Amino acid sequence: MDNFTFYAPTYFAFGMDTENQTGEYIKRFGGRKVLIHYGGGSVIRSGLLERVKKSLDAVSLPYVELGGVKPNPRSGLVYTGIDLCRKESIDFILAVGGGSAIDSAKAIAAGAVYNGDFLDFYEGKPVTQALPIGTILTIAAAGSEGSPDSVITNEKGMIKRGATGEAFRPRFSILNPALTQTLPKYQTACGVTDIIAHLYERYLTNTVEVEVTDRMIEALMLTMIHEGPRVIEDPDNYQARANIMWAGMMAHNNSCGVGRSQDWTSHNVEHELSALYDCTHGAGLAVVMPAVFTYTMTHDVARFAQIAVRVWGCSMDFYHPEKTAKAGIEALRHFLFSLGMPRNFEELGAKESDIEKLAHTACYGNGENGTLIGFMALKQKDLEHIYRLML
Ligand code: NZQ
Ligand code: ZN
Repeated sequence: MDNFTFYAPTYFAFGMDTENQTGEYIKRFGGRKVLIHYGGGSVIRSGLLERVKKSLDAVSLPYVELGGVKPNPRSGLVYTGIDLCRKESIDFILAVGGGSAIDSAKAIAAGAVYNGDFLDFYEGKPVTQALPIGTILTIAAAGSEGSPDSVITNEKGMIKRGATGEAFRPRFSILNPALTQTLPKYQTACGVTDIIAHLYERYLTNTVEVEVTDRMIEALMLTMIHEGPRVIEDPDNYQARANIMWAGMMAHNNSCGVGRSQDWTSHNVEHELSALYDCTHGAGLAVVMPAVFTYTMTHDVARFAQIAVRVWGCSMDFYHPEKTAKAGIEALRHFLFSLGMPRNFEELGAKESDIEKLAHTACYGNGENGTLIGFMALKQKDLEHIYRLML
């Protein structure tokens, strides 16, 4: 195991009706004037936004609202939010929604206290200062409710990039699984896929002797395999949603990623797809992961065979471990398809003619000197091959 530091000071309030205490939590964490930031309207339709506003009114907290965050959130609304925060002297941002609303809120929080262009943070500058953020999560997926990360699409060129920094960890996050019951099945399945991807990105490591985090990841993965189909079958199953919601947080606040190198190839490859075709991040990952793993499997067959046996229930072929490794990848592909996820470029709305461009931006945008460094070092030709496996 490698040396590491870990500091994840988000306060979590988990369970039924916890959103009714939002006003008290904002006050506890020092907010005096709030920007409520949300998406395209699901929180209005469900009545959640009204309840949240009532809770702020109950403790006499003033607020302004900014809705309209799109999935794969855009830079344009972030600039609007930054201006609004300055004009209204906002000192706390409350995101109500999914990863997109939360990531947009994080970008506004960093930009509001920075003299330059907030996009500097999405081009590698570490985030050291930001307004405090609280979240009310409505979809278990991105893990942004506990993570120090934010992903924004720069509308100039539609380039999707991440920013990171401890200042991005929310002060509090309210997780009521019942709020996710209004999700369409497809979005629920996309969320389950994203959570599984966050686990694979950490599992695929070049660090040895990481038994504790390996086992934590396997436990979370097994939970998703158990609960994913249950919640697709019965969207009102509160207990299944509760397990998924907490697994989603655990998968990405990095408690199971410390002390080990991580992969992130699938996310880098997918971000190019959701930036270009505006597909849902989880759906993109469902197409990307089997292709990336098929290509990178030879780098460490034993690791892929291990997850195949411990998580996917494959039997170990000691003479041909690559067969076991492949069987694990096939089991993942089959599982994601059974949840209703797409399998290839066509089902995702992606185009073969864009492959060279996709591979180029993935390498040169996210990589170092044209090499994408993850579980394996990959050049543009490798990435073109990977994208072709998705056809
Ligand atoms: O916009 P509204 O109307 O709210 O509708 C949303 C949106 O259309 C809808 N939705 C959310 N909760 C709902 C609901 N509909 C009905 N009932 C509910 N309870 O679902 C759609 C998707 O929402 P979004 O916030 O985009 O989903 P998700 O949480 O999957 O976030 C995706 C974004 O997070 C980024 C992704 O790249 C993508 O941009 N990621 C962020 C990470 C992070 N910050 O740590 C890590 C992830 O790997 C990921 O890259
Ligand atoms: Zn993700």
